[in-house]
Amino acid sequence: MSLRIADLFAERDSQRYTLHARHLNEQMVRVLKTIGFDRGYRRGVGPYLYDSHGERYLDLLSGWGVFAIGRNHPAVRDALKQVLDGEFPNLVQMDVSALAGVLAERLLRNVSYLDKVFFANSGTESVEAALKFARAATGRTGIIYCSHAFHGLSYGSLSVNGDQVFRSGFGPLLPECTEIRFNDLDALARALASRKIAAFIVEPIQGKGVIVPDDDYLRDALDLCRKHGTLFIADEIQTGLGRTGRFLAVEHWDIQPDLVLLAKSLSGGHVPVGAVLTHKWIFDKVFDRMDRAVVHGSTFAKNDLAMAAGLATLEVMESERLIENAARTGARLLRAFERMAQRHELVKAVRGKGLMIGIEFGAPRSLKLRASWNLLETASSGLFCQLIVIPLLKDHKILTQVAGHGNHTIKLLPPLTISDADCDWIERSFEVVISDAHRVPGAVWTLGKTLVDNAVRARARG
Ligand SMILES: Cc1ncc(COP(=O)(O)O)c(C=O)c1O
Repeated sequence: MSLRIADLFAERDSQRYTLHARHLNEQMVRVLKTIGFDRGYRRGVGPYLYDSHGERYLDLLSGWGVFAIGRNHPAVRDALKQVLDGEFPNLVQMDVSALAGVLAERLLRNVSYLDKVFFANSGTESVEAALKFARAATGRTGIIYCSHAFHGLSYGSLSVNGDQVFRSGFGPLLPECTEIRFNDLDALARALASRKIAAFIVEPIQGKGVIVPDDDYLRDALDLCRKHGTLFIADEIQTGLGRTGRFLAVEHWDIQPDLVLLAKSLSGGHVPVGAVLTHKWIFDKVFDRMDRAVVHGSTFAKNDLAMAAGLATLEVMESERLIENAARTGARLLRAFERMAQRHELVKAVRGKGLMIGIEFGAPRSLKLRASWNLLETASSGLFCQLIVIPLLKDHKILTQVAGHGNHTIKLLPPLTISDADCDWIERSFEVVISDAHRVPGAVWTLGKTLVDNAVRARARG
């Protein structure tokens, strides 16, 4: 008899947090319970999640950006079923599959200045490949990355991560990786001058904090790289595939990187996948002889399920005009949040492109509010944003989170399928919660006091 997964899911659901605390990451369970995010979702459809009471939530995290076409899209499910039902000769290894070839062809149709694709199983694997390819192609060893950068958490990616919280305790990391300030062309020019730099890796819009560079930054950075013989790697793992209202975010600045990295939403969220798009000459330096045909790769890369899901995802993005929808709904939301920033002193800035939006909060001017803000921030930097995201979830059924450690920016990364009704829901809910946060005393700051007490108790427990 076959395993009844759906029954298992239902039968053991009440134990999900106990099981995780016992056998997986206990600290994650503590986080979820502390902020009331232990909702035990049962279903996911499009941009919505449903809990055990059938209550509907609007998901603005989309699994850190993997569900760009929405959860459980019928086209992707159908493609996956076809692969399983078709008994395809998946992963023969000493043969190649047509599906990978067609997905590569489709991706390159959208990025016509590049001619090769290397498939991987995740974002971080795409980064690892790009770093190795850059060294092999240039014969150089140095890598430059930016402050606050996030490229994944395996050793190569961690070596180009601009956040100490992630790096700390895991050293030594890869040598000859140099951090420069994001958006600082002089720093880049100085770092490139040694002519030992294989690659500059950069997110066109930084995910941690949703930092959009100055308009000339990426174009001038690419020119500097070309001048110094350094390859330009655009990490589009979060920004790519329509997220910012263009197929790639670099299109906003009309630049053509040497390597483009994709992952996350490429498989519609169902199967892990990653991709490096690059030039033939770079590929030819890596895979330069027959006995080096497998010099870089990974067992599960190019598997038929990931490739089929990728093809279905690109098809859905095109047929449902999701890139256009991201541009339109994103512009609408940005305008709404900009209006909120004018009305509410706690909102300091609103940034983003398409459906990658950051709302930054900051110290208020008025005395009473400032005293409460200071109390909270002294207890734990960045805690304020929890006063927004907790009521958003509890009272308005909107799932969102802060964009990084010690950060005051809440990030919106919804599926690209959201409708105007969803935008109304978002705007209405943020307006209520942000207005409430300007009332002292009030429910939001009472919650703040509870969080401070929890933080103090947790610290005392060590
Ligand atoms: C810009 C960027 N690069 C790389 C990664 C790593 O991807 P993965 O978690 O699939 O390894 C992420 C993940 O959030 C990312 O946002």
